[in-house]
Amino acid sequence: MRQADVRKQWEGAAPGWAKWETTVAGWIEPATIAMLVMADIAPGARVLDLASGAGSQTLSAAREVGAHGHVLASDISETMLRHVRERARAAGLTNVGTLASAAEDLDVERESFDAAICRLGLMLFAEPAMALAALRRAVKPGGKVAVVVFTTPQSNAFMAKPMQILLRHAGKAPPSPGQPGIFSLGASGVIERLFTDCGFVGVEQRTFAIPLRMASAAQALEMMREAFGAYRAVVGDVPEAVRLAAWAEVAAMLETFETATGFEGPAEVLVAAASKPA
Ligand SMILES: C[S@@+](CC[C@H](N)C(=O)[O-])C[C@H]1O[C@@H](n2cnc3c(N)ncnc32)[C@H](O)[C@@H]1O
Repeated sequence: MRQADVRKQWEGAAPGWAKWETTVAGWIEPATIAMLVMADIAPGARVLDLASGAGSQTLSAAREVGAHGHVLASDISETMLRHVRERARAAGLTNVGTLASAAEDLDVERESFDAAICRLGLMLFAEPAMALAALRRAVKPGGKVAVVVFTTPQSNAFMAKPMQILLRHAGKAPPSPGQPGIFSLGASGVIERLFTDCGFVGVEQRTFAIPLRMASAAQALEMMREAFGAYRAVVGDVPEAVRLAAWAEVAAMLETFETATGFEGPAEVLVAAASKPA
């Protein structure tokens, strides 16, 4: 997908992502905490947050680094970054900056950050190696980069099955290995190889089962339709009737994850971190 189309895709999803961000933040919280710890984020640190979205993890990092530290949130979508600025202001945080940029084109001062983070972004980039190389340039020698990605379709059934349905209705093939996609970096060994190929050392990994619990399947569907940019993009360019039929089938599928107490979608993420050689 061309960069302009990626930007358009996420500009379209930004209002929905901002609306559902508290839900997403709660869902991913154990992995977010691990990501900040594995990136060695400490008071006074300068942190780069790549593909920040509406910034819930930006704000968590900003609280960790405190008044003497700084967090730069970067994203391809300016609308996402507007939400970051608004939220930082509302939270009384004055140590947050923003930079609109595609990850692959990131242009920041060399070796000016102590650490970098990227939550649920790297697997979506057309060139994750270029993005990691940009992070490697940005952090100081010995600095850490920590990322969160989804693992496999098998461990993320409530995410994988809707994607299959949408692709089938749109007449599109699933991404082949090496292509961007929600599960492109989650198989065993893939992220470790990517970090190592980009010149990082000491790769650490932790896996978290993070079932998504919501009031109902209808609510999960609403979030997926409004906020999940990669899903919206699959059916973004098909006729209205096809799009409606695809989402109707997704709705029925999500109902299979309803329990007596509400919706529970199995999900799993991987937190991986590595260092730039000192
Ligand atoms: C799934 S959201 C995750 C947002 C945030 N990190 C979070 O966890 O809440 C993916 C984000 O990646 C951004 N993005 C997608 N492709 C990008 C690219 N090539 N360069 C920079 N940002 C990108 C989108 O705009 C979106 O904000």
